[in-house]
Amino acid sequence: MKTYPLPDGTSLPALGLGTWRMGGGMSADTSCDAEVLEALRYALELGCRHFDTAEIYGNGHAEELLGRALRESGIPREELFITSKIWPNHLTYEGSLRACEGSLRRLGVDYLDLYLIHWPPSLPLEEGFRGLNTLVRERKVRYLGVSNFDLPLMRRAAALSETPLLTNQVPYSLFNRDYARNGVLQYCQEHGILLTAYTPLEKGRLANSPVLASVAAAHEATPAQIALAWLLEQPNVITIPKAVQRRHLEENLAAAEIHLTPEEMRALDALV
Ligand SMILES: NC(=O)c1ccc[n+]([C@@H]2O[C@H](COP(=O)([O-])OP(=O)(O)OC[C@H]3O[C@@H](n4cnc5c(N)ncnc54)[C@H](OP(=O)(O)O)[C@@H]3O)[C@@H](O)[C@H]2O)c1
Repeated sequence: MKTYPLPDGTSLPALGLGTWRMGGGMSADTSCDAEVLEALRYALELGCRHFDTAEIYGNGHAEELLGRALRESGIPREELFITSKIWPNHLTYEGSLRACEGSLRRLGVDYLDLYLIHWPPSLPLEEGFRGLNTLVRERKVRYLGVSNFDLPLMRRAAALSETPLLTNQVPYSLFNRDYARNGVLQYCQEHGILLTAYTPLEKGRLANSPVLASVAAAHEATPAQIALAWLLEQPNVITIPKAVQRRHLEENLAAAEIHLTPEEMRALDALV
């Protein structure tokens, strides 16, 4: 598994597991808890150590399920990398402290590895970063980042954060190059910031893409694996596909071991 070095000497696995729709959508749904817990346990068994969640996922229930699976695994906390996200309307000074406490409680941990502003807030960014910077100083959060921020907003956030932003988490896939076109990818690469590609499989649509078939055949891989390998081959790009099916979890983690040639990368780059 490719990893990225972090400023404190530890490292971050380039492929993590997304948890949107585990435990519900915008409200909690417990009807699939057993299936979700089984998926999380299997991901851990396969060696996955990087997880992406958010307070809004299942209105906190995704964090609860993830916390339970992590606790039951007995894996030492320092071997895990846990990202959560604050919903933009909580981004006041007090609100950010409260939101983080809620995420820590539901996850059952005493710090987050990465805390992201989920979407650009309508509240003043200065006020929010006062809270987020406090959380880093108090060691409740190791690293800060943003999500769905365009370039001007990202620059503002970088200026307000007392510690370097670790990532901007944005939609990025073979079929969605918006954040390459708008300059965010290049800015990240030039400033040592990671771009976390979300919806990397276009919700599974990329898995059936005939245009990926020949590269997939050359690697005895599936189109979904090629879509992930294409992301991971790019400097400073990491990704967090979501999966609950065992076959998908196996495929996605194995995709992190596939290396594409420069010719294959050029052919895939040219697809859209
Ligand atoms: N920051 C944000 O605003 C934001 C927005 C969206 C998403 N995210 C994060 O990014 C994560 C991933 O994005 P996403 O969930 O939107 O979409 P995604 O990862 O592109 O797609 C997930 C879907 O693809 C299927 N799938 C997974 N692996 C597959 C494979 N190897 N072959 C075929 N199908 C496969 C999954 O099926 P099964 O589940 O049935 O296995 C699921 O239906 C989210 O879970 C979330 O953590 C963040």
